[in-house]
Order: sequence, then C-alpha cells, then structure tokens
Amino acid sequence: MKFISLLSTVWLVLASLAIAEPSDREEAIAFKKVAKLQQQYQKNIHKIIKQRTTGCTNKKLLRRQECLPPRQLHLNNTFIRIPGARSRYDDFVGVQVLQTHFVHNDGLFLPFHRQSIALYEKALRGECGYADWSLSYKRYPQGQPSLTGPLCITLPGGGALNFPPATGGGCVYSGPFTPDKFKIYLGPTGLTPKGPLDGLGYNPRCLSRDSSLQYSLYARPTNASGLIDGSEDLAAFNKALDTSPKGLHGAGYFMMGLVAMDVFTCSNDPAFWLHHAQVDRMWAIWQGQDLEGRMRQVWGTQTQGNVPPSANVTLETQINFGVVSAPKTVGEVVSTVDGDLC
Ligand SMILES: *[C@@H]1O[C@H](CO)[C@@H](O)[C@H](O)[C@H]1NC(C)=O
Ligand SMILES: *[C@@H]1O[C@H](CO)[C@@H](O)[C@H](O)[C@H]1NC(C)=O
Ligand SMILES: *[C@@H]1O[C@H](CO)[C@@H](O)[C@H](O)[C@H]1NC(C)=O
Repeated sequence: MKFISLLSTVWLVLASLAIAEPSDREEAIAFKKVAKLQQQYQKNIHKIIKQRTTGCTNKKLLRRQECLPPRQLHLNNTFIRIPGARSRYDDFVGVQVLQTHFVHNDGLFLPFHRQSIALYEKALRGECGYADWSLSYKRYPQGQPSLTGPLCITLPGGGALNFPPATGGGCVYSGPFTPDKFKIYLGPTGLTPKGPLDGLGYNPRCLSRDSSLQYSLYARPTNASGLIDGSEDLAAFNKALDTSPKGLHGAGYFMMGLVAMDVFTCSNDPAFWLHHAQVDRMWAIWQGQDLEGRMRQVWGTQTQGNVPPSANVTLETQINFGVVSAPKTVGEVVSTVDGDLC
C-alpha cells in the first residue's frame, strides 16, 4: 500500500511536470519583460546615437524622410532566372528560393532577413505608395482576420518533417489575399509535389493557410523572453531561434501552415514579412542589451547546417539579394541605426 501510494505520488509529480505549461500570468509577465528588454535596447541605441555628429545621427533618425525612387521593375532579369515570376512580389519570393540554402540555420540567416525586410519595406513605400508601413499595433483595426477556409489545395508532407493536421485550412477567404485578388505563382519547392522548375516555374494558385494551435504554443511570450534572456552569444541565440522546428522561427511558420510551411517559398504568404520583422525584433533587442559586445558579433558559416562546408561568416561576408538589390556585407546590416537601415 505504501509502495502504491508512493508510486501514485511519483506519477502525480511526473504528470504535473508533463503539464507544467506556463500560466496566462506567466505569459503576461514574459510579455512585459520583452517590452522592458526592448526599452533597454532603445535606451542603449539612443545613447550611442546621441554622441554622433555624422552618419546616422539622432536628427537624421527623427527627421527621416523617404525619398521615393523611380519605379524599378526587374522583370526582364527576373524572367531569366525565375521564369514563373509574374509580379514584382515574385522578385522577392524568387530571391528567397534561390538563397534558401545559404541563409537558414547558418551565420547569414539573421543578416539576410534583416536586409530583405528593409528592401521589401523600401519597395512598399517607394513603388507601391505605402506611406505608413510602420502602423502601430495600437492603431490596428480590432478583430483578427480568420485564417482558415475551405480546402483549395493540398500540400502533403513537409520534406522530412511530418506535421499533424492543424485546425483545417485552405484558401484565405477574406481580406486582401482572397483568390480573386491575390495569387501566388512560385513553388512549391520544399513540399511535395514540387511546382515546375523546382518551384521557379509558373504555378498560379491561391494563398492557403492552416493555423496550428500546437505550434502556436512554441511562440509565446515566455519563449521570446527566454530566447533573449537565455542566449549568451549569437551562436546560442541562433540555435534556439532557428535550428529546431519548435524554435520561434520555425514555430511561426508552422503556426500559419500550408504555403508558409515551404521553407523555400514561404514568402509567398505576405505574413512572412510580419513574421520576420518579429524575428528581427528579437535579434535587435538581444543585440541592444549589450551593444558593444553583441552588435558586431557574427557566428557560423555560409551554408545551411554547414552542408556543404563553407567559410565562416565575417563582417566582410557578402550577402546576395539577386534581382532585388546589389549585395551587402554582413557588417553593413548588423546595426539597425547605420547605413541604409538608419
Ligand atoms: C531582356 O533580356 C534579354 C536577354 O538578356 C535582352 O536581350 C533584352 O535586351 C532585355 N530587355 C530589356 C528591356 O532589358
Ligand atoms: C517554448 O515554450 C514551450 C512551453 O513552455 C516549451 O515547451 C518550449 O520548450 C519552449 N521553446 C523554446 C525554444 O524555448
Ligand atoms: C571557423 O569558426 C570555428 C568556430 O568558431 C573555428 O573553430 C574555426 O577555426 C574557424 N575557421 C576559420 C578558417 O577561421
């Protein structure tokens, strides 16, 4: 009897460990913590900017004016390398496809995506006339768009990873990305069956999503504060963020489902840019806790998981943006308040 009661106590303890999910209160605390870490980042950034007299100064930051460049279409160039491209948006998607092996789970992951968001933002402002890209979430209309709908396409399997069905997805059926207003053309590349030409061919279809509640559990405020707080160096930060599908980076995609789950063509889903803006925010806040020690830190090599083996990333390593822009060096994008990113 004693043994049984001991056993049941052990089971109870084990069971309670198994279901020791953070409470709503813990999530709320973690949410505030990330906001506090962000304040520290901003404070540290402003401290260095205040001392500057040239370059990206405080004045320049505050008086920032967007100059509208002439409309630049790269379709001719795009058409040669990315035959399936049908829109300016596909320039960005195609570059992601071509760069995938060099900018994931390696030292170029964060710098490549930071600059990609900046380039996309510039195109939105300059070519499409979105004056206020940085709409505050406080001013965002209330109410969440529904992410699921009737099934339109099936994308079985996700490479070597198997995902349980999520909440039931399909073509986005409300908002600006419904099939009558928005089509995707490239891909799939990382899902089977592949689209023509390894996903670079013409394959018009709807934008589909399938929200996963399971993966949303890996992208909570406690995860974000744990990532920023618990990463001693950039290698640890990257590993926690990007190596596992349950890291914040992977979880964000698997939460959206379907189109976003293709590691090559996930930017077909415009939510890609919001997701990566958040990933970049994590990096910026992490850097901002110790600008001197972390701003110019690099790690890793230039190929996914170092396959095939490649050189270590340095501040001089070039990042390729194909038809979207001239290459940049890693050193040109590590700071959020220098160069083009000022
Ligand atoms: C498009 O590319 C082709 C092949 O390189 C070239 O012959 C043609 O002149 C280009 N057209 C434009 C408008 O740039
Ligand atoms: C995210 O949080 C969940 C739930 O607490 C936890 O199981 C998971 O290990 C966390 N993931 C990371 C990368 O911190
Ligand atoms: C690349 O980085 C690793 C890990 O920091 C280091 O051990 C190795 O010596 C570096 N290789 C070169 C060629 O610098």
